[in-house]
Amino acid sequence: MAKTKSVFVCQNCGTDSPKWVGKCNACGQWNTFVEELVHKSPSKSGIVHDFFDTSASKPIYINEVPVSDLPRINTSNIELDRVLGGGMVPGSMILVGGEPGIGKSTLVLQMALRIGTQKVLYVSGEESPQQIKLRADRIHKGNENCLVVSETSLEKIMGHIKSVKPDLLVIDSIQTLSSESIESLPGSVSQIRECTGAILRVAKETNLPVVLIGHINKEGNLAGPKVLEHMVDVVLQFEGDRNHMYRILRSIKNRFGSTAEIGIFEMLGDGLREVANPSELLLSYHHDNLSGVAISAAIEGMRPFLIETQALVSTAAYGTPQRSATGFDLRRLNMLLAVLEKRAGFKLAVKDVFLNIAGGIKVNDPSIDLAVVSAILSSNIDIPLTQKICMAGEVGLSGEIRPVTRIEQRIGEAAKLGFEQIIIPKFTKGPHLAKYDIQITQVSKLEEAFKLLFA
Ligand code: TYD
Ligand code: MG
Repeated sequence: MAKTKSVFVCQNCGTDSPKWVGKCNACGQWNTFVEELVHKSPSKSGIVHDFFDTSASKPIYINEVPVSDLPRINTSNIELDRVLGGGMVPGSMILVGGEPGIGKSTLVLQMALRIGTQKVLYVSGEESPQQIKLRADRIHKGNENCLVVSETSLEKIMGHIKSVKPDLLVIDSIQTLSSESIESLPGSVSQIRECTGAILRVAKETNLPVVLIGHINKEGNLAGPKVLEHMVDVVLQFEGDRNHMYRILRSIKNRFGSTAEIGIFEMLGDGLREVANPSELLLSYHHDNLSGVAISAAIEGMRPFLIETQALVSTAAYGTPQRSATGFDLRRLNMLLAVLEKRAGFKLAVKDVFLNIAGGIKVNDPSIDLAVVSAILSSNIDIPLTQKICMAGEVGLSGEIRPVTRIEQRIGEAAKLGFEQIIIPKFTKGPHLAKYDIQITQVSKLEEAFKLLFA
């Protein structure tokens, strides 16, 4: 019998140590070491073993590597395909992470049921087949070739893969799996590493695409070791505000495509709906004469959309004014307030400022700065902006409006949605600004924009 011993393994990066240490030397995290039992016999040690096995591979010159377009499996989900870079690559391993209850199982089951004639094996370690069936009835999309099994043992799952021979494997979730050859608990670094490694080998050998669902920890990172993210080909993060219906699928890593794309979904009573035109969701058209609202032409991923920024400025009740931002970086808000104070002379130091990006989504595009300051000012002086105007521009420290990327796409989107005027930075390059059916006004300084908006 193989001897067992115990080691302490960092739950963040997978480094092991013979005794407990408070801080991991490799990744610098504190209190991440957990005792795990391991078999001493090195033959069971999974992936490390493969690195020394060179019998099958032979180095070839890079110019002689045969090139073929990667075949892609269409997932019948436009948004998911977009994020994957045009569909799933056979033999690839895709990790989908996200907070509990955000809709990971729904997204993946919906894909499994829609993918057409492909045979899908859906392994759930969290739900019984009855529960999965209930969910499937809810999203009522049928795929007769979808098999479900409730199982957490890696060895039994391997057996199922062998007998079912699926075209697509789904594991919900990787943290629930355990292998008999490892003695530590499911969800520990050694278990995750072993199970992922074993599935990865099957995926690469048989060209089987695999979708893994992963939990995230309290810091918002994918739970388990970083090695998990290194092992898989694609890491997708499903995010959104649980109190809102919109969900965003972002790609954090993609070996077969760009990570700039995002997919947008809406959670409905009967599953996730793909949102082809995000602007329609993020704009509400019925708040004429409300102050503190400004519309921005933003770009997230590769797509332009119009988004509402809302601000509320009120007299500070306590000594220290409050600043709060939802969907926007708080430090950036503080910077914009300082710019407003210095360059436009508004006394905001004694005011509470609350900022909200409508729809519960988080925008990283700096071009919404101009809308943010306009909304704040509009609320401060209680003068509404006309709802037929939108804007795009980054605000610099000296109050200058800086150029933003892909301005033509933004203008096009604003024109398409029926806006009458768009305010853009002055020094924007782009020879064809005249061809749009919308009035384009270029400004170089905050003051100019304010004169236009509040004159
Ligand atoms: P779920 O996919 O179970 O989340 P996860 O696997 O990420 O933990 O989905 C959770 C939520 O989605 C649940 O609270 C109910 C909601 N939901 C809907 O609103 N509509 C639906 O059709 C389904 C299936 C779920
Ligand atoms: Mg789930």
